[in-house]
Amino acid sequence: MRNEWTEAEGRKIVEAVFPRVPTRGTDGLAPGKREDEMLLALEGYTDPLPALDGVTFGFYSGDPAPLLAAVSEVEPGWAKYYDGREPAFCGFVGETVVSFCLLSDFGEREILGVKSRVGGTGCVGTLPAYRRRGIGLKMVSLGTLILKERGFDYSYIHDTGVPDWYAKLGYKTIFKREIPAEN
Ligand SMILES: CC(C)(COP(=O)(O)OP(=O)(O)OC[C@H]1O[C@@H](n2cnc3c(N)ncnc32)[C@H](O)[C@@H]1OP(=O)(O)O)[C@@H](O)C(=O)NCCC(=O)NCCS
Repeated sequence: MRNEWTEAEGRKIVEAVFPRVPTRGTDGLAPGKREDEMLLALEGYTDPLPALDGVTFGFYSGDPAPLLAAVSEVEPGWAKYYDGREPAFCGFVGETVVSFCLLSDFGEREILGVKSRVGGTGCVGTLPAYRRRGIGLKMVSLGTLILKERGFDYSYIHDTGVPDWYAKLGYKTIFKREIPAEN
């Protein structure tokens, strides 16, 4: 496993993992919009971030209403993905869910000629009042660690607009669609 890929390899990986992502052209993209597909080989991954005072992390359980309210506050279109089919891994302050992501299993895929288990964190959000405190990144790092501990070979980030943020954990862009902003 490695964490560097050529452009052609990156395109092939996207086609293997997420065949719905168009890897030619920029149809449907608005000016100034960029969408990245990112990957991280999990072998040897360790959480690089310190613990956060007053914040705990864990899988969400119980009444789904507070989780759905938090998701809808960040991105109403994501509530349909938080339907319980995939586990939600969250950050909590006291009992309050303040940050959330889905831990997905994308199945066994051929990555650079090797059958590999691919998972990922998706639909990541932090409530606006709790942003820029390191909670979201810590949650994604711990989620990434869980994927590794569960035997996944790669963590894949689908269609993100914050590649620089994921790059802080070592995720690399394998493919991007981009249209420059209009002047
Ligand atoms: C992106 C998002 C999840 C970040 O959550 P957060 O809890 O505020 O993130 P953190 O506080 O852990 O960020 C940690 C670091 O990333 C930086 N950062 C935060 N947002 C960033 C961004 N959009 N791009 C690059 N870096 C960013 C912070 O400055 C911080 O850096 P520092 O530690 O060097 O100061 C949050 O802004 C959000 O919910 N956005 C709307 C939904 C979204 O875009 N989700 C991602 C799409 S897949």
